[in-house]
Amino acid sequence: MLSNNSENYDLKRDLKNIWHPCTQMKEHESEPPLLIEKGDGIYLIDRNGKRYIDVISSWWVNLFGHNHPHLNKAIKNQLDQMAHVMFAGITHAPAINLAETLVELTPPNLTKVFFSDNGSTSVEIALKMSLQYWQQSGEKQRTKFIYLSGGYHGETLGALSVCGINLFREKFNGVLMQNLEVQGPDCYRCPYDLKPDSCQAECFEHLEKTLNENRGTVAGVIVEPLVQGAAGMKIYSPVYLKKLQEACEDSQTHTIYDEVAVGFGRTGSLFVCDSHGLKPTFLCLSKGITSGYLPLAATLTSDLIYQTFYGEHASMKLFVHSHSYSANPLACACANETLSLLTKNNFLENLKPKIKFIGETGSLFNEYKWCGEFRQKGMIAAIELVRDKLSKDTFHLKDRVGHKIYLEGLKRGVLMRPLGDVIYFIPPLIITNEEIKVMMDAALESIEAVLS
Ligand SMILES: Cc1ncc(COP(=O)(O)O)c(C=O)c1O
Repeated sequence: MLSNNSENYDLKRDLKNIWHPCTQMKEHESEPPLLIEKGDGIYLIDRNGKRYIDVISSWWVNLFGHNHPHLNKAIKNQLDQMAHVMFAGITHAPAINLAETLVELTPPNLTKVFFSDNGSTSVEIALKMSLQYWQQSGEKQRTKFIYLSGGYHGETLGALSVCGINLFREKFNGVLMQNLEVQGPDCYRCPYDLKPDSCQAECFEHLEKTLNENRGTVAGVIVEPLVQGAAGMKIYSPVYLKKLQEACEDSQTHTIYDEVAVGFGRTGSLFVCDSHGLKPTFLCLSKGITSGYLPLAATLTSDLIYQTFYGEHASMKLFVHSHSYSANPLACACANETLSLLTKNNFLENLKPKIKFIGETGSLFNEYKWCGEFRQKGMIAAIELVRDKLSKDTFHLKDRVGHKIYLEGLKRGVLMRPLGDVIYFIPPLIITNEEIKVMMDAALESIEAVLS
């Protein structure tokens, strides 16, 4: 048995017992996984000392870089008190503080916080709460959710039943809840031929129609506000969200805003729903909540929902849902420190010049014939590669262009993980302009190495 250090790392031992997520394991025979030993700010360091910019914040979780002294300290302090305790019948200060802060920082109608431990689960909880709310409010026929094509909300079966990306759901279609998919926004290939900055979210008509046709049977609508991450960082207009808010209010349908990816400053503001005056029935949070240190998630909701579950035990109106690691104290302590870093010293305000710089450097990609579009929302940016700029034709799947670019990136010290042919950047928020330049240059070289 080995200690945690990697001196005796041997690929055969990795392959013998480990099944990595979202990975064709056979490929690791010729392309071994990176053996990362250390993290330092925006860098990951392998056992040979080679440094890689963590361009995708380790699956979009890391906000303040690796090995951050304040976050390390917050966890160590909490560790000296207590690592974990169950959260039913027991409470603790880190969770109480965190719930208070989350309620303070999110839209005013959100007053209750239900903790869990990953993004998919925060979505499962919102779906289940919504369904149970309708059961207990005399509208049992409200059992369906509307979701958008291109939407992604995690990979448990409930979350997959509101997933608008075939790749993730096709093997399980037969057993998923039958929800209602509607055509979502697609600004780069806008069927209305409109420009995202000036459009009036004409594409909302699809959702509106489905909502009208299914009035009374829809429990809620779930969206990733402003950016559909897994679909390739597809960015859409806030007008869409305004229309959604109005339509859901009008039909008394729940709104589930999944800010698992976009929350905690990624778009330049703390939460999309707050900065756009939205009033979610449920808000799902995870990923950045602990700045990528520990698994934690929260589903926030309103007093109205909460009161429907509130009553004598005998009424059996309680929400029967639990996870062993709900509100883990180490994770909550880390989340409290994360929120303190995000809200102190004008942190978000100070992102503005960086966001501008990403826009300036990134838009230079538009000059290249393989760049269909450079797009950006706050600290999230993406380049959609195309075979042909005019027709916007994509590359053949079998060409595995994105994967080849990923391999070229590794040679140049940038860890990207393209989504198909979309090369995207969602770096730790602490990245500097100099590092942004290095990241963009390395991405450009990697793309050119594959495509020219
Ligand atoms: C918008 C969104 N929701 C939910 C999830 C699922 O989160 P997790 O991977 O923690 O289950 C993700 C993960 O990428 C996500 O991007």
